[in-house]
Amino acid sequence: MDPNTSGLEQKLAEAGQSHLLQFWKELSPKEQQNLFQELQGLDFQEINVFFKNAMETSSNSKHEKMDGRMEPVPRDVLGSVTRDRESLKDWEVKGLDCISQSKVAVLLLAGGQGTRLGVSYPKGMYDVGLPSHKTLFQIQAERIVKLQQLAEQKTSVKCCIPWYIMTSGRTMDSTKDFFSQHQYFGLGKDNVVFFQQGMLPAMDYGGKIILENKGKLSMAPDGNGGLYRALGNQGILDDMQRRGVEFIHVYCVDNILVKVADPTFIGFCVQKGADCGAKVVEKTNPTEAVGVVCKVDGLYQVVEYSEITLATAEKRSSDGRLMFNAGNVANHFFSFSFLRDVVQKYEPQLQHHVAQKKIPCVNAEGQLIKPEKPNGIKMEKFVFDIFQFAKTFVVYEVLREDEFSPLKNADTQDGKDTPTTARHALMSLHHRWVLNAGGHFIDENGRRVPAIPRDGAGGTDDNLKDGTDLPIKCEISPLVSYAGEGLEALVKGREFQATLMIDERGVHELVKNGV
Ligand code: UTP
Repeated sequence: MDPNTSGLEQKLAEAGQSHLLQFWKELSPKEQQNLFQELQGLDFQEINVFFKNAMETSSNSKHEKMDGRMEPVPRDVLGSVTRDRESLKDWEVKGLDCISQSKVAVLLLAGGQGTRLGVSYPKGMYDVGLPSHKTLFQIQAERIVKLQQLAEQKTSVKCCIPWYIMTSGRTMDSTKDFFSQHQYFGLGKDNVVFFQQGMLPAMDYGGKIILENKGKLSMAPDGNGGLYRALGNQGILDDMQRRGVEFIHVYCVDNILVKVADPTFIGFCVQKGADCGAKVVEKTNPTEAVGVVCKVDGLYQVVEYSEITLATAEKRSSDGRLMFNAGNVANHFFSFSFLRDVVQKYEPQLQHHVAQKKIPCVNAEGQLIKPEKPNGIKMEKFVFDIFQFAKTFVVYEVLREDEFSPLKNADTQDGKDTPTTARHALMSLHHRWVLNAGGHFIDENGRRVPAIPRDGAGGTDDNLKDGTDLPIKCEISPLVSYAGEGLEALVKGREFQATLMIDERGVHELVKNGV
């Protein structure tokens, strides 16, 4: 373990990263061993190339706006839950059919660090404070269980939706332990497959790797697009092939409303013969900082708000909607063969994006620094950067209030995408399911309470913010209903008060001070 005799010193010198051994002599034998191992595991020449390319791409894109090269998504590749109502049933039947033949897998992106939420454990283990106190992982797992049942009921054939969960070096052990403690939420150990994405070091603006402390590099996951490299080097593609998976639904852990393996979305993509599909929500506010799916120079991609001028963001079509309104929510469909091509052929062509960050570090004098302004970059690939390689790309537009409420930030007054907004989004959706199924909510004076509308534009809940709660709390277990179906027998013609929970044991009305 001598950096000199092992050749490590030379390797670092050749890559211009010798400073990483600057504090070597001050480290304990254990610390030296850890640092040695960490450094031996990295390919510095490759990291330097990533850095150079990422910085070049980022500086080019700063100077050039995309406006002139963009075209909106054409209507013929677009499916919409509001504008194609007559086709929804067909698509759903098609999707359930694929599920019942065990051709559909789900792939969860859960390797992020959840910095903004600020918890030390994986985001999927977060409890947003629903009456049931279910975590995001549990909600998603139960949706898969229910969907398997729905598909089985239709065909009387037992089926399986394998769940591939991408974690990172930081979240792997706690995620696995959590699933094991909860008996895989009834999905079966063999059908929940964990794999780990790669990590990359943070770099300063001159391309030097940043030390977090004297004996440790500052490492971060390589972005949700790290998926593609990990799928290949962790044997996941082979596992999919062995199981006969043909279609894959990819989504993010933080969306409490996500329709995991949504049969309607899958059916739409399959009927269109698509190899790649993106679920989108309508962007209604021109200045909302959401990326939009569109064509650039004839190829599909996501264009960020910062890459276009306000004039383009504000452009409207003849129907009054924003011209570039296909808001990307990182929710995708891939055919297996497309995913395989991406992993085996196209992945190296994907460039890392640059995220400027305040990165805690040790300075040349050995002092620990917590910078107040960005002092370096993290390099990340994005899951949606592969649209350009699709031969048949489709877009599926859904309602934000039904399908998208991400958990990004901790609760604060007037916060956006917080535990409170996520909890409200879910309960307000379930409130509407009860109304649609013929049930009613009444207040203490016996008056009927309408569903609380959410503000569609920003994804925030303008009526109730911070830790406050809705006047009516309603939570329906995914084990009872996947998307609002099957509730008539339980709620039709009935009136409920205060807190309503419907789960596999029945309908429970909870009063404020207990059950
Ligand atoms: P975000 O970009 O919102 O990051 O991830 P995050 O980690 O959840 O939160 P911050 O930015 O640190 O506060 C969107 C989705 O992509 C996944 C996340 O787990 C989340 O589901 N992701 C992100 C990965 O799987 N790997 C990554 O390297 C980054």
